[in-house]
Order: sequence, then structure tokens, then C-alpha cells
Amino acid sequence: MSETLKVLESRRSCRAYKPELIEEEKLQAIIKAGTYAATGMGKQSPIIIAVTNKEMRDRLSAMNAKIMGRGEDFDPFYGAPELLIVLADKNAATYIYDGSLVMGNLMNAAADLGVDSCWIHRAKEEFESEEGKEILKSLGIKGDYEGIGHLVLGYASEPLKDAAPRKSDYVYYIR
Ligand SMILES: Cc1cc2nc3c(=O)[nH]c(=O)nc-3n(C[C@H](O)[C@H](O)[C@H](O)COP(=O)(O)O)c2cc1C
Repeated sequence: MSETLKVLESRRSCRAYKPELIEEEKLQAIIKAGTYAATGMGKQSPIIIAVTNKEMRDRLSAMNAKIMGRGEDFDPFYGAPELLIVLADKNAATYIYDGSLVMGNLMNAAADLGVDSCWIHRAKEEFESEEGKEILKSLGIKGDYEGIGHLVLGYASEPLKDAAPRKSDYVYYIR
């Protein structure tokens, strides 16, 4: 099996992280892979925000937990030290698909480099909030962006779970 196919099959979501940041070169390589995802009509509707700042990481985690209805003691980022946020321009007809493909590229690139990750949801609600809009404004991000997802990144602090068996009716053939 090719190395690419092995990575696609073996990537798993990680839900317990060591506190150390990943290497900068790996972070840049993961981000670059994200920017090369296919997008509808090549419009490149998504943007990626890389958060390695602990204060902002903790603030986003608290916002996310609040959306979940959880208290401040819950960390929906599972202790991951950093994250990539994907948002996409709602003016592009395919923005959700575009942003989701970027997320896929990011998580598979991370797996290829031995970096653990997990898609964390609720980016939509996060960046629809006044606090989220303020964060975008502070970065000079103008426009009509919807949060697609967060990819938390780091190194696992415990072994990852095996993949669930694939459902038997996943695939249909017309031959
Ligand atoms: C759209 C989407 C949203 C997800 N949101 C969360 C989330 O908020 N929290 C979480 O722990 N995992 C989240 N996940 C990860 C899934 O739970 C995980 O991919 C799934 O259980 C399969 O496990 P695997 O990634 O190890 O194959 C999300 C995945 C996707 C694709």
C-alpha cells in the first residue's frame, strides 16, 4: 500500500495531549497542505487561523465549552496546545465543502508528519458570537466568514483508540 493510503487509513482522532507545541516546520507544512485543498471553481474560499498563543487557545476553548453548555472546568480541546481554525467565505457557493476539504487536508497532513489532531466542532457558533467577531476584527479579517472547524494539534499523551469497524453498507457498486 502507498504511504499516502496508509496515512489516510491510520489517522485517528486524539483526545489527550501533551502540553508541548509541535515543531514550527511541521506546523507550516500542515498549513501549506491545507491551502492546497481543492475548492469549488478554485475560489479558495477558506482561511486558516493558526493559534499557538496559550491565552487565545484557552479563550477559544472556554468559548467552545460555553457553546456546548459545559462549565469552565471542561476543555473541549483535550489539552492540545495549539489549533488551526478554518473559516470559509459564505459568498462562495461551495464554502462548507471547501472548508471541510481544507480540514481533511490539515488532519491528514498532520498524521503524515506524526502529529496528532482532532476536529473540534462549533466554530460556526463561536465566530457568530460578538466575541468571535471581535477576534476576527482584531486580526484584520473582513468579510462574511463562517467557522467550519477547529483542528487541535499536538502529541498524544496516551495511545489512540483503534478505528471503529467500517459499516457493512458503506459502499454500493454499479458495475
Ligand atoms: C464534522 C466533524 C465534527 C467533529 N467534532 C468533534 C468534536 O467537537 N469533538 C470531538 O471530540 N471530536 C469531533 N470530531 C471527531 C470525530 O468524533 C471522529 O472523527 C470520529 O469519532 C471518528 O474517529 P477517527 O477520527 O479516529 O476516525 C468531529 C469530526 C468531524 C468530521
